[in-house]
Amino acid sequence: MIKWPVLKTSLLVLLVYLFLVGTGFSAETYDADAYGPEEPIVWADPAMATFEHKIHTMDAGLECESCHDELFEMEAGAAVGADTFTMKAMADGQSCGSCHDGDTAFATDTNCQACHAVAEDPIVWNEPTKVTFSHEVHVEDSGLECESCHGETFAMKKGTAIVNKNFTMASFKKGLYCGSCHNGDDAFESASQCASCHFPPSDKIVFTQPVKSVVFDHSIHVEKAELSCESCHKEVFAMKKGTVENQQNLSSDDPAEKRQYLVTLHKKYCGTCHDSAQAFGYLTRCTVCHIGVKGLKELTGEEPKHNAHE
Ligand code: HEC
Ligand code: HEC
Ligand code: HEC
Ligand code: HEC
Ligand code: HEC
Ligand code: HEC
Ligand code: HEC
Ligand code: HEC
Ligand code: HEC
Repeated sequence: MIKWPVLKTSLLVLLVYLFLVGTGFSAETYDADAYGPEEPIVWADPAMATFEHKIHTMDAGLECESCHDELFEMEAGAAVGADTFTMKAMADGQSCGSCHDGDTAFATDTNCQACHAVAEDPIVWNEPTKVTFSHEVHVEDSGLECESCHGETFAMKKGTAIVNKNFTMASFKKGLYCGSCHNGDDAFESASQCASCHFPPSDKIVFTQPVKSVVFDHSIHVEKAELSCESCHKEVFAMKKGTVENQQNLSSDDPAEKRQYLVTLHKKYCGTCHDSAQAFGYLTRCTVCHIGVKGLKELTGEEPKHNAHE
């Protein structure tokens, strides 16, 4: 009979052995001197592209000399910015294109994804509004070629378009960026179906100017009342917090003028629906929208900016 402590020790030894072999194993099979660095080299400029030594040395059997140092220096990033390191130069047989010519290896005008891997995660812009773009939808579901976007329309690098002042809905309408296809012809128009690209804010929006604390909840309107974004964001509200608050307020003491101003203000915004027909009227239930100082405090824990007399 084997005694438990002995078994325990042998098990431990076995585990340690397996662990050492396990870790030693991968280090032993990949020899960076023989095959070049194990980690892929990733360039971010001007496009995202990846190169793996393993594939070229271990799998394709190339010697270091077939690339170093005539085609490439032994330094990641050294080629960035060189005239030989563009798609055009590669098509003329330079750098990667000296082999990737459709003869020795697949050509650079095909198989873009092999070198420019597309991440599965959608690209998300957070400012000025939250928008998402999915490669999967465009490449796999709609069958678009990489070149239909990555030539003139978009750089192959996340965050390039957003720094341009003209990456806006107005430009899309003129056929730039997303609007080069989302024109109602090649794909649904950019001025429609906002919810396909945009997310509504999940937090409640609180108007705290001038004095009244008005609460607006997207989820009540979008999910419960099933309103489209367009029903508010085409004509009534800008898709930006604070636009209503920033407009000029009336400072008149004439009661008639003041009443008229309030009617106009409510009719222009929330009252377009809150007219007692489509939704409860703005002239009724003031406190459902105007939650007051106490309501605001309960909701946000904040004091309103102005001292209210509510
Ligand atoms: C098919 C072409 C090719 C072959 C073959 C090749 N390399 Fe490279 N190597 C590259 C490229 C491309 C770079 C990156 C150059 C750049 O970014 O400018 C590079 C970079 C390197 C670097 C620098 C890595 C770093 O992080 O700075 C080392 C080291 C290296 N190679 C070693 C080797 C060795 C050793 C071999 C042979 C076993 C080899 N290479 C074979 C193309 C190749
Ligand atoms: C054999 C690998 C390889 C293939 C295939 C390839 N590229 Fe590239 N591409 C690169 C490398 C390397 C760069 C330069 C480094 C960088 O920008 O990250 C580059 C750069 C680019 C650039 C930046 C600007 C320019 O023109 O140089 C764009 C855009 C681009 N590729 C698009 C494409 C498209 C579209 C395809 C398919 C038709 C494609 N690439 C196929 C490797 C490849
Ligand atoms: C000296 C010749 C040579 C050069 C230079 C070269 N490659 Fe390759 N490459 C090959 C060969 C050979 C293969 C394997 C055959 C094939 O896939 O067509 C290959 C395969 C690949 C693959 C295929 C990966 C897969 O999934 O099968 C990629 C990606 C790639 N190369 C990228 C590059 C990039 C990026 C450069 C330039 C930085 C480059 N190669 C430069 C010869 C070369
Ligand atoms: C319908 C348009 C469209 C198509 C088609 C398309 N892309 Fe993109 N791609 C984009 C946009 C938009 C970006 C982000 C650019 C920006 O933020 O300025 C992007 C970014 C990228 C990036 C950079 C990702 C990063 O993290 O920096 C890579 C790589 C890329 N695309 C590769 C491809 C490849 C490969 C194909 C073809 C298989 C392809 N794309 C097809 C629109 C497209
Ligand atoms: C090269 C043409 C092209 C460009 C550029 C383009 N799209 Fe598309 N997009 C399409 C096509 C085609 C469809 C599918 C047909 C349709 O829905 O009308 C589509 C569908 C979509 C969808 C619907 C996804 C779904 O689940 O049904 C969204 C969202 C979208 N695009 C967002 C964008 C955004 C954001 C941009 C700009 C960053 C953009 N697209 C640029 C062609 C394009
Ligand atoms: C095809 C995708 C798409 C559709 C559909 C779309 N947008 Fe956009 N929108 C974008 C992109 C991309 C941006 C720029 C990036 C960002 O704001 O994060 C943007 C930006 C905006 C902006 C801020 C910048 C500007 O242009 O003023 C507003 C506001 C906006 N969209 C409103 C709307 C409204 C309202 C609708 C529906 C009528 C809509 N969008 C439909 C993709 C779309
Ligand atoms: C019932 C009206 C209504 C509907 C429907 C609606 N919104 Fe809004 N949205 C508003 C109001 C009101 C504001 C705040 C405007 C202000 O402060 O001037 C706003 C603001 C926004 C903002 C800016 C938030 C910020 O922090 O700057 C975004 C983004 C937004 N909406 C997206 C959406 C999207 C996406 C949809 C559709 C899924 C949608 N909205 C549907 C009324 C609406
Ligand atoms: C596009 C039409 C539309 C606009 C614009 C609109 N609402 Fe609504 N709202 C509705 C509908 C429909 C309901 C649900 C039916 C109802 O409660 O009468 C609703 C419900 C509400 C509720 C919930 C009432 C309850 O009983 O819980 C509040 C609060 C509210 N809206 C506030 C606002 C505020 C504040 C604005 C302006 C910033 C606004 N709404 C603009 C259509 C709209
Ligand atoms: C459907 C939502 C809603 C209802 C109901 C509503 N309001 Fe408002 N009210 C608003 C919004 C939005 C504003 C503009 C933002 C702000 O001032 O906080 C506003 C602003 C005001 C203002 C300040 C205007 C200024 O510029 O000085 C007064 C006063 C006011 N409302 C009174 C009332 C009274 C009284 C009622 C009931 C008869 C009422 N409201 C019902 C949404 C509503």
